[in-house]
Amino acid sequence: MKTIGILCAMDSEFALIREALSGGHTESVGRQTFYLAQRGEKQIVAAVCGVGKVNAAACAQMMISCFHASCLINSGVAGALSPELHILDLVIAQELVCHDLEERLLQNYFPHCSRFPADETISALAVSICQEQGLSCHRGLVVSGDQFVTDTAIKNDIVSRTHGDAIEMEGAAVGQVCYLNEIPFTVIRCISDGADDTGEMDYDTFVDKAAHRCAGLTLALIDRIG
Ligand code: ADE
Repeated sequence: MKTIGILCAMDSEFALIREALSGGHTESVGRQTFYLAQRGEKQIVAAVCGVGKVNAAACAQMMISCFHASCLINSGVAGALSPELHILDLVIAQELVCHDLEERLLQNYFPHCSRFPADETISALAVSICQEQGLSCHRGLVVSGDQFVTDTAIKNDIVSRTHGDAIEMEGAAVGQVCYLNEIPFTVIRCISDGADDTGEMDYDTFVDKAAHRCAGLTLALIDRIG
């Protein structure tokens, strides 16, 4: 049976998913708790991995090594970098890059790749579900780093270096782990703020709604993945 892994950084991003998997059970690997449940013909392993790239990478590798996940979905909120993105828009990653690690280091040394493409089939399925549900959704470059950005100058610097569309703190780490393990993944995000000087206020207002919207799409997606 196919096992799909779902990683969320925070409880608010996971709430709806936990509810949907309530018939299952939990298992721990070290300090990390995993929620295991069957949904239709699929086995789901899901977790709140915590914030940042190290937490996300460790959890992703545990899902693959300990629970045999054959594809991963990272779901949660993000800040908008592109002016085309608005609060509560959905972003399905085209590819992922770290904004706080020099790309040339990952290119010149193992694994000789610094931008990690999301799986086209799974991502296209997420886009069609958005279209069916009338949700505004964009494909684009999602950038990740160990920093919550609420400063227009920092945002502009990240945009000028990466040309990213949305910013968060885990997706590129999940992408890199999946690249190393040669398994498909996608990153689904809902915009909670503009990652600028008013970002913190917007985040507090919209994080729960954005998290709920993203989790709803993730649940619809796992039911449709072949
Ligand atoms: N996730 C949601 N908003 C974010 C921001 N502004 N910076 C980093 N991660 C985020």
